[in-house]
Amino acid sequence: MNRTILVTGGAGFIGSCFIRQLFQDSTEVRVVNLDKLTYAATTLSTPNAPADRYQLVEGDIGDAQLVEALLEEHQPDWIVNFAAESHVDRSIDGPAAFVATNVVGTCNLLDRVYQWWRQRAEETQRDFRFLHVSTDEVYGSLGPTGLFREDTPYRPNSPYSASKAASDHFVRAYHHTFGLPVLTTNCSNNYGPYQFPEKLIPLVTLNAIAGKALPVYGDGSNVRDWLFVEDHCRAIQTVLQQGRVGEVYNVGGDNEQSNLQVVQTICDVVDELSGALPGGPRRNLITFVKDRPGHDRRYAIDFGKLHTELGWQPQLDFENGLRQTIAWYLENQAWVDAASSANYAGERLGHV
Ligand code: NAD
Ligand code: DAU
Repeated sequence: MNRTILVTGGAGFIGSCFIRQLFQDSTEVRVVNLDKLTYAATTLSTPNAPADRYQLVEGDIGDAQLVEALLEEHQPDWIVNFAAESHVDRSIDGPAAFVATNVVGTCNLLDRVYQWWRQRAEETQRDFRFLHVSTDEVYGSLGPTGLFREDTPYRPNSPYSASKAASDHFVRAYHHTFGLPVLTTNCSNNYGPYQFPEKLIPLVTLNAIAGKALPVYGDGSNVRDWLFVEDHCRAIQTVLQQGRVGEVYNVGGDNEQSNLQVVQTICDVVDELSGALPGGPRRNLITFVKDRPGHDRRYAIDFGKLHTELGWQPQLDFENGLRQTIAWYLENQAWVDAASSANYAGERLGHV
């Protein structure tokens, strides 16, 4: 793939997987990664990036001058926007950063991109695409039945999902009003290597390895649809290359699990891979804690549009994906140390 791709937020969990995948797939692709390097980022997450085809630029998607300069310098063929504040609990503690990056930052990015794009010659405009990476949380919460579809009304419940919903609407508006060739993906919960240990699966994995308490919010019966991060990144590549401009595609794992089921499975796999603790099986470490305010009950995705139109479906089943993920955390202490030394720890939120 002889393209230049501007990735934003590529030092985070999903963006870095996307970059690793691009370099695995192509010996020609060039990547510019604009990342603010917040607490959630590490520069150790793209070890296979070749120096002559990869550039990390530390900066903010909300910085108009910087974005303009990058567009002029690199003339990207495609842009994929991962940059965001991504953790629901942090958005409850402090929504301002979520508005600044997810809403105002995305708007700035869109506007700079639009001004640059409309001045390019018609010939070179033809293939340009801007893909916005978003979440299923914009659709709100489901009862025991039903699935989120692309036409499900938006009902965001947390400051995080409200900010992502706003960003999705601006992306849509830049297509509808100005003709910017955008695509949006709304995906369910991702898991896999390199995920910052504030999110459920890496937090519980690392606590289980260390023999610490495993915090489960409420009674553990809330349900999420888990997708291996590499499958999500394949979906993004598919939509980027073949999706219909202006369209939205839902991405999911067809893999609903209650939080308690997830935590119990992690306990069992860690027991098996690293041996039991003297105090007994790790399931004994499960600790029910105060629930998240406004906690969405259930997410589940209908990804039929992406499957029927573009042939995408998840490749890795949850048990193997989780096993692979836990093995990765056991084998990558240097990355874990770097991530854990970031200026943030889940415990400080006071949920445990
Ligand atoms: P993450 O928190 O791991 O990474 C976010 C990255 O964005 C970090 O590297 C951070 O430094 C960077 N960033 C933050 N603010 C920035 C700014 N103003 N300018 C430039 N860079 C900035 O998040 P993630 O889990 O990798 O999520 C990536 C995207 O995918 C987000 O948009 C998120 O909403 C979406 N998403 C995540 C999931 C999930 O399960 N994690 C599921 C669906 C969609
Ligand atoms: O659905 C997609 C979304 O998934 C993404 O848009 C978000 O960026 C991502 O953070 C994720 O949001 P969740 O809130 O679902 O993920 P989190 O890992 O924080 O929590 C998963 C579930 O586990 C949720 O029901 C809350 C619960 N939980 C979480 C933590 C951190 C616990 O029970 N204990 C915990 O310690």
